[in-house]
Amino acid sequence: MADEPINLFEYERAALARLAPMARDYYASGALDEITLRENRAAYDRIALRYHVLADVGVRDTSTPILGRVHPWPVVIAPTAFMRLADPDGEVAVARAAHAEGVTQTISALSTASLEEIAAAVPEGSRWFQLYVFRDRELTRDLVRRAEAAGCTAIELTADTPVLGRRERDARNAFALPPGLSMPNLARLGEGIRAPGTAPGSDSILLQFFAAQVDPALSWRDLDWLCSITSLPVLVKGVVRGDDAARAIEAGAAGVVVSNHGGRQLDTAIATIDALPEVAAAVDGRGAVLVDGGVRRGTDILKAIALGAQAVQIGRPVLWALAVGGEAGVRRMLAILREDFDRAMALAGTPDLASITPDLIVQR
Ligand SMILES: Cc1cc2nc3c(=O)[nH]c(=O)nc-3n(C[C@H](O)[C@H](O)[C@H](O)COP(=O)(O)O)c2cc1C
Repeated sequence: MADEPINLFEYERAALARLAPMARDYYASGALDEITLRENRAAYDRIALRYHVLADVGVRDTSTPILGRVHPWPVVIAPTAFMRLADPDGEVAVARAAHAEGVTQTISALSTASLEEIAAAVPEGSRWFQLYVFRDRELTRDLVRRAEAAGCTAIELTADTPVLGRRERDARNAFALPPGLSMPNLARLGEGIRAPGTAPGSDSILLQFFAAQVDPALSWRDLDWLCSITSLPVLVKGVVRGDDAARAIEAGAAGVVVSNHGGRQLDTAIATIDALPEVAAAVDGRGAVLVDGGVRRGTDILKAIALGAQAVQIGRPVLWALAVGGEAGVRRMLAILREDFDRAMALAGTPDLASITPDLIVQR
């Protein structure tokens, strides 16, 4: 159809026009002045590519092994909360689309469909689980067990959220979940973020929920603990420094996700693609390295691979496509990105991921 989006930015524009203001602002916003949100993208645009010619790209292989499973192409769906704000089928629709396109879905602890519902709907799907460590360690332990039982093959421990970053658009809207939506993975905690604010305009209910339930004292000891209670590989998400990345690997993590939570936590934090080379050097092949934040084009994926990532994650584009076209929209968006990456590989003269090397990169 002539008015169907043809790239990820067009999905964003279409979704912003369609979503109700509270959901739109929750999905779109970054922390404070949204400097990191913008920088995540701008940093990709500052990188120029020194491409090869006459490199025989007649046959191309986009596949990559991540945590022992060969992914047909190097994209993973980042954990994002509350997908049913975009579409009634929410996380289940995304699970179906991801499976159809050969993509691993990372399920947020704050999903609006339970782990069990997603697993029952798409038993064959490849999925990881994103964990927050709650003050209630029994709840946390129970979540890990449920993720294992639901067929998740890795845990992403989100480490950049000891407290929630302040997203001022959510504060202004006094963000809360609408009636009918809940966090079924966390049913034990009650109706924490469905309830109306304590006072009008008091703040996002999510901010209050985190302050009450998520443990701000999270430390390296908890990573040891997590690794001791699960046999699943643990990725530490939210790392932007080489010393932290090395420490995570030495503590038993299977890898790291270079992430600043899509610019939603510490504003003015370093753009993730700028943080990636130092992290990749520190990990030095001892674990997986993924990166997220601002990935919208095949050339962004190419740049991330060249700078040391095995794969990228995408967050908001999934929400935009879900809002625009449900399951079919997410499938289409993923197919567009995959084709774009394959074309970027061809034009860069890099027929497989091993040929995507740091010498392709020039910082402007
Ligand atoms: C609406 C929204 C909700 C998110 N929820 C979570 C979450 O529950 N857990 C988490 O670890 N990260 C969460 N993130 C961060 C993403 O996992 C990811 O780091 C980020 O979205 C990547 O940037 P991008 O949106 O520019 O692709 C969320 C991001 C957005 C936009």
